[in-house]
Amino acid sequence: MAAVSLGRAVGAATAALSISLISCFLLYRARSKLHPWMKKRGGKRRRGLVEAIGNTPLIRINSLSDATGCEILGKAEFLNPGGSVKDRVAVKIIEEAIENGELVEGGIVTEGSAGSTAISLATVAPAFGCTCHVVIPDDAAIEKSQILEALGAVVERVRPVSITHKDHFVNVAKRRAIEANNAKNDAKVEVSGHVSHNGQSDEGSEIKSRGGYFADQFENLANYRAHYEWTGPEIWNQTKGRIHAFVAAAGTGGTIAGVSRFLKEKNNSIKCFLIDPPGSGLFNKVTRGVMYTKEEAEGKRLKNPFDTITEGIGINRVTKNFMMAELDGAYRGTDQEAVEMSRFLLRNDGLFIGSSSAMNCVGAVRVARALGPGHTIVTILCDSGMRHLSKFFNNQYLAEHGLTPTATGLEFLS
Ligand SMILES: Cc1ncc(COP(=O)(O)O)c(C=O)c1O
Repeated sequence: MAAVSLGRAVGAATAALSISLISCFLLYRARSKLHPWMKKRGGKRRRGLVEAIGNTPLIRINSLSDATGCEILGKAEFLNPGGSVKDRVAVKIIEEAIENGELVEGGIVTEGSAGSTAISLATVAPAFGCTCHVVIPDDAAIEKSQILEALGAVVERVRPVSITHKDHFVNVAKRRAIEANNAKNDAKVEVSGHVSHNGQSDEGSEIKSRGGYFADQFENLANYRAHYEWTGPEIWNQTKGRIHAFVAAAGTGGTIAGVSRFLKEKNNSIKCFLIDPPGSGLFNKVTRGVMYTKEEAEGKRLKNPFDTITEGIGINRVTKNFMMAELDGAYRGTDQEAVEMSRFLLRNDGLFIGSSSAMNCVGAVRVARALGPGHTIVTILCDSGMRHLSKFFNNQYLAEHGLTPTATGLEFLS
């Protein structure tokens, strides 16, 4: 009798254990579908702040969907903890550098950027036990350095000079990483030989530096991989594969490259398009294979090649990240269209989005009109309008630049 009940108890326990193991496995599989990096990283889970990045909602933009007869969906990246799509890039850049041994806990991540990537790196670096050193041009809006400093980053403001100059902010950022590495190596000598690199005792600076790593968002393919392994799969899962087109503008090109390549691998008939702001050469590159703008072709090079009110998008060189993109075509968008679109979405949908997101929505309508009703089109809502108060959402600034919005509907889109 006792043996029978013992047998039953063992059977029940085995069944319960099997059920919980199966449940754990299913839960793990469900989560790894949402977060594909879990599989890749040997099941090692991201914890804390980093776990809160990604898995952003895919919002149906009702006004644009109703106006075009398509489903126009915006990936709400402005909901990431650091406020933009660049949180994913910051995580991936730091993780890969740590995995490759190029960055250690306590190290310094350096970047030359006045934009969202610097803010995301400064947000995310402490979660990896690292600090952030950001080099920005001294004509960048003062709020940018205030935010970065508030986040604990060291901010170095330098004179704006050409990228070919050794003191361009990107080159300075690169140098700061090298200097931090040199200081680390010196510290090693100090520990073994008890002398500093110049032969003098230097106890105060002992092991201060744990090395530096230059994030290099334009050329570092960790940027592309963040979107190939993370944003792209999320879009695929959220649409259950029912997606006809993807459209986005490019700055570094990481987003459009990672998402387009992933989606095309899943289903090669998904169309992927670039929407390009004024002053950028990418439209020509995609449509004609050459990289010059109309203005440049006529010898009227713009004062600033990124001469547009939109921020973070448009470029006149082909980055390693952009080279990974798989595109079917490109559209142009104007500053006026981006401004009008942002106000249209605010009035009709309550969406308060930044300039690059507004340009992406201009692209989504262009694609919807080209494909016709009945298609599902996804774009990226990169950051919030909150980051754009001094220019894009400043009526006086817009008036001074002849960009005051006047449209009541979508008539501004030709
Ligand atoms: C606000 C914002 N939107 C869009 C982009 C463009 O994304 P990507 O660099 O992936 O091309 C950037 C890039 O810095 C950005 O800061």
